[in-house]
Amino acid sequence: MVNPLNAMTPASALLTPALPASQWGQVCLVGAGPGDPELLTLKAHKRLQQADVVVYDALVGAGVLDMIPAHVERIYVGKESSNHTLPQDDITLLLVQLAQRGKKVVRLKGGDPFVFGRGGEELATITDAGIAAEVVPGITAALGASACTGIPLTHRDHAQSCVFVTGHRKDGTYTLDWPVLARPNQTVVIYMGVGSLDGIVTELVAHGRSPDTPVALVRHATHAKQQTVVGRLDSIAELARTHAVKPPALIVIGEVVSLYRAEQEAVLRQATKSWA
Ligand SMILES: C[S@@+](CC[C@H](N)C(=O)[O-])C[C@H]1O[C@@H](n2cnc3c(N)ncnc32)[C@H](O)[C@@H]1O
Repeated sequence: MVNPLNAMTPASALLTPALPASQWGQVCLVGAGPGDPELLTLKAHKRLQQADVVVYDALVGAGVLDMIPAHVERIYVGKESSNHTLPQDDITLLLVQLAQRGKKVVRLKGGDPFVFGRGGEELATITDAGIAAEVVPGITAALGASACTGIPLTHRDHAQSCVFVTGHRKDGTYTLDWPVLARPNQTVVIYMGVGSLDGIVTELVAHGRSPDTPVALVRHATHAKQQTVVGRLDSIAELARTHAVKPPALIVIGEVVSLYRAEQEAVLRQATKSWA
């Protein structure tokens, strides 16, 4: 595997000059799903077999990486929130440069490329450069977490809508519409929010969401090491500390979480094993 710190010159292809445009390769943004390799789409699997090089993130599961043929070059450009390995602009430039050297490039991202994945920025730059591009959707973490915990995101009796938001603060402040998020009978799934759980709870309660609203934290959804912690808005921050819940995790807020049963989650896991 290539050293991520040296990621601007990792691919041997970059040692060669760019080819004429007629010989350029292409880039496919592929969603790897939330972790369980069996949740990869057939199209995603096919693109992994067809690629010359796969540029992948930290959240791509090991089981998915195992599906990449040995002859295909892999470049890790993973980002953790406090440790950006390679700036986003450099990642996008890398994709363009590889394609300009005739490579079939798979840009493999956890979940779905267009859900908090910066896939939109990458696609715009790639197509602006005149490079052929494709997007293969993946199962986003919220859907994986819902299936694996048995918490439906909508339910006729509990939630008529569901919203996905990011809890990541830019310059220390949120740009979230708290009055909308605080409405009852809707499910709010927060990505990248566990580090700022206290602030999220404070805002939701201040804007009218009931303190007894059920909340689930789901870490490593769909992985064997999945961790689920369930409480209420007024207890979840303390529970997160007690259970040491860290990223990658989702916060699922809403009445649907009252349907969670630990025994049912265990049944769901067991059922998956028994199909094997
Ligand atoms: C940069 S976002 C990428 C989201 C991804 N594009 C998707 O569609 O799932 C990273 C955040 O997604 C969430 N996440 C991704 N995979 C997860 C998983 N398997 N279990 C729980 N949360 C996950 C976490 O909140 C994590 O901090």
